[in-house]
Amino acid sequence: MAQKDIQSVLQEDRVFPPSAQFRAAAALEAGDVEAMYARAERDHVGFWADLARTEVDWHRPFTRSLDGAQAPNYRWFTDGQMNVSHNCLDVHLRERGGKIAIVSEGEPGDVRRLTYAELHGEVCRFANALKSLDIGRGDRVIIYMPLIPEAVIAMQACARIGAVHSVVFGGFSSNAVKDRIEDAGAKLVITADGGWRGGHPVELKRAVDKALADGCPTVQNVIVYARTGADCPMRAGRDVWWQDAVSGMGTTCEPEWVDAEHPLFLLYTSGSTGKPKGIQHSSAGYLLGAKTSVKWAFDLNDTDVFWCTADVGWVTGHTYVAYGPLAAGATVLMYEGAPTFPDGGRFWNICQTHGVTILYTAPTAIRALMKLGDAIPAKYDLRKLRLLGTVGEPINPEAWMWYHKIIGAERCPIVDTWWQTETGAAMMTPIPGVTPTKPGSCAKPLPGIFVDIVDDEGRPVKTPDAGGYLVITRPWPSMLRTIWGDNERYLQTYWEKFQNRYYVAGDSARRDKDGYYWIMGRIDDVLNVAGHRLGTMEIESALVAHRLVAESAVVSKPHDIKGESVFAYVVLNVPRPEGAAAKALIDELRSWVGEQLSPIAKPDEIRLTDNLPKTRSGKIMRRLLRSIARGEEITQDVTTLENPGILEQLKGGAAAPPATRATPAERATPAKRAAVGRAVPVERTASPKRAASAKRAAPAKRSAPGKPVAAAKRAAARKEVAARPKAKKPKVAVKRAKPIARVKRAERKVAKRKVVAAKSRRAAVKAVRRGSKPRSRRESARQK
Ligand code: WTA
Repeated sequence: MAQKDIQSVLQEDRVFPPSAQFRAAAALEAGDVEAMYARAERDHVGFWADLARTEVDWHRPFTRSLDGAQAPNYRWFTDGQMNVSHNCLDVHLRERGGKIAIVSEGEPGDVRRLTYAELHGEVCRFANALKSLDIGRGDRVIIYMPLIPEAVIAMQACARIGAVHSVVFGGFSSNAVKDRIEDAGAKLVITADGGWRGGHPVELKRAVDKALADGCPTVQNVIVYARTGADCPMRAGRDVWWQDAVSGMGTTCEPEWVDAEHPLFLLYTSGSTGKPKGIQHSSAGYLLGAKTSVKWAFDLNDTDVFWCTADVGWVTGHTYVAYGPLAAGATVLMYEGAPTFPDGGRFWNICQTHGVTILYTAPTAIRALMKLGDAIPAKYDLRKLRLLGTVGEPINPEAWMWYHKIIGAERCPIVDTWWQTETGAAMMTPIPGVTPTKPGSCAKPLPGIFVDIVDDEGRPVKTPDAGGYLVITRPWPSMLRTIWGDNERYLQTYWEKFQNRYYVAGDSARRDKDGYYWIMGRIDDVLNVAGHRLGTMEIESALVAHRLVAESAVVSKPHDIKGESVFAYVVLNVPRPEGAAAKALIDELRSWVGEQLSPIAKPDEIRLTDNLPKTRSGKIMRRLLRSIARGEEITQDVTTLENPGILEQLKGGAAAPPATRATPAERATPAKRAAVGRAVPVERTASPKRAASAKRAAPAKRSAPGKPVAAAKRAAARKEVAARPKAKKPKVAVKRAKPIARVKRAERKVAKRKVVAAKSRRAAVKAVRRGSKPRSRRESARQK
């Protein structure tokens, strides 16, 4: 499939070598890099082991470098002991104690500076506070904070005492917080009364309260940092103000020496199926990847002011805010708020004010700022900038050129860094003083990283520019270790496709004649909206959890600024409204998804339809839906469509002929509803994740629509529903609609149990007749 399906469209011939000036000052020269490549090629384990000895300060040195006994659950430096926080802070105290470690600007304009000595003291104080709350080695701690120094202090303090943190992005809703607390079995939540975003306080503690009110029995305490001063109810015996917790605590705290493989953190990320995955990272291997990559990719030196704009809720904020640059002894800049608050000059103002030398941000931000025009950045002095970086999604050459010319004044190399939550650290990137850059390409793997492009059978694709699966062919120290609590899913998602021979990244890519890699996008159903990974499945589940929604299919559509936007097709379990009523419902559904998941996940467009296009075997024709969403000419073969009449309606035109209008009212049964859409394998077979999900879902296939008996029953059921347009959702369904994780659990159960469809359908009809009261799920929708 690789060559056939993954076609590259981008042809970019411009090449930009680093300037002589940059080259002369850069730490790594071409000769050094060649030697590193050669050494790694000969003995990649030895290459990393040597670095681990020099770059990591060990409490007990390791003697074993790579342990592949349980491959592909690889382990690195297993008998060594160390501590990540010690390696980020204590190691600098003698030489850099007085150096600024963090400069932080709050959205309202408040600026704080912490030296390495001060940061060390604060981390120790907070670590001692954690210990006083009985948090220790191996305990899971959820961090749900604004982007202020305390977020990093909390992460470092967990690392210091061997607790495992899981940061939840402050833009996520209480549902997401709850799911993550429950999956991780967290004992403590660290949050704030709120943070500032776009001029408004974002109420974090309230979201935590809501999450905890719904379950989360493992949580014993909540630490709340007072940031905005917002009214914030505290529950006696459970909630503690941060400021109170640290008062009287000592400013030293002996690090907990942990094994190299001790989990440092879990970070949840979207997959194509099921609930978000808790990506588990190690201590030593992760730190080594973070530290070496920040030095190599960003040429970081002691005079730099390094600004990675990512929130600590994403992996980029872990590796290039909280850990990598501190391990390297750099000065890190943090900014709490929105890039365009109070105006489009905020980023450039920050660069000017704090003398930022390295700026690392996402293409979506670059495109948004580019749209505001060249006059804004021209007002600021950006001459201190010497290097620019991008991450998170492919950057289009137009945005790249703007970044290069307008921000970098054609002086700063641009490092386009490809990596993932799973890889822990940048994997492919230009080395700024050495590698000529090409707009839109992430260049080549870093030394010690081995990448290839393979076809559907796992054979290396040698032809230049032919697309295929991007795979990593040798283990690397900062690789994920597993998925928290689900090693089976780890194996299935990343390794099974090619029988454990390669790590499968889930991206498609091509390699040009010069050996440069070009990422072409995801091969599974994961969207990349504004640099954030969102599973189509998660959004579909959120939609289906709404009381009026029977079925949905989510696809991506290119978007000028965000890269991709979310386009959802929705089938209702009541007659399809039109005009103002339709608009109102669409607005409601958008906010619903915002509340259930995150405002980032809100569909940009929703099209109400009477049915989804399916093949006769019941597969949703996603590629067709994608083409329609994008307004492309339909080239797909539609002869296998069960209901060809639906096409016009999907395009936004007239209603489909009545015969095809049978909405699946049967799905009012909660269990059935949960299975909808995922019970049937989707059309695509290219993705390993998709293939796996299709397999898992197979037993539920019998509920696939299209069978004549089922269609008749559906029509009957629909009549019942249509006769009662105001019918409320059955009680059970509303209950189910609450937590997405539960819906997904139900879905798996359904697949396993092979429920007899007819029985549940009858129950559903009865339940619809009974009616029930919808629950209000309002919570402060938090705009990003
Ligand atoms: C995409 C972010 C093109 C890719 C660090 C990957 C990129 C996913 C780039 C991981 C890049 C990341 N060029 N695409 N430079 N960097 N991606 O886990 O699809 O949030 O698989 O990690 O983002 O997203 P994640």
